[in-house]
Amino acid sequence: MKILVLGGPNLNLLGDREPEVYGKDTLGDIEKYVDKSLSSISFESDWRQSNSEADLIGWIHSASTDGFDAIIINPAGLTHTSVSLLDALKSFKGEKVEVHLSNTYTREEFRKTKITSAGSRGVIEGFGKDSYLLAFKFLLKV
Ligand code: DQA
Repeated sequence: MKILVLGGPNLNLLGDREPEVYGKDTLGDIEKYVDKSLSSISFESDWRQSNSEADLIGWIHSASTDGFDAIIINPAGLTHTSVSLLDALKSFKGEKVEVHLSNTYTREEFRKTKITSAGSRGVIEGFGKDSYLLAFKFLLKV
């Protein structure tokens, strides 16, 4: 199984950005944590992050032709605003899981509106880096 892991705006600042909300791990640390936790399983993953909505949409458009079976996406702030990202996700026919590090339902009111979430099979949120691990476990059936 080949999994594309997409991260939206400001996730490049993880580790430094609001650590009390998002934890002290960088996105690279989270990737290493997932790889180590699943080291006995055979899979391929490609982690990409962009602050640009256009990059994320482009990567989703080419995911099938690039051979990806599934997408794990943390759209970050775009979760709450982007119809275009939702539409792009709907165009990808493989399995999709949306993840969030924080439990957005315990935070500001505007984070309760999730425009992109309808583009994925389900949403895993509030478990920090384990939100990512749980998404992989769902896709890999382990
Ligand atoms: C986030 C939650 C979003 O509301 C926020 O804009 C983010 C990160 C999370 O992983 O908890 O940037 O997606």
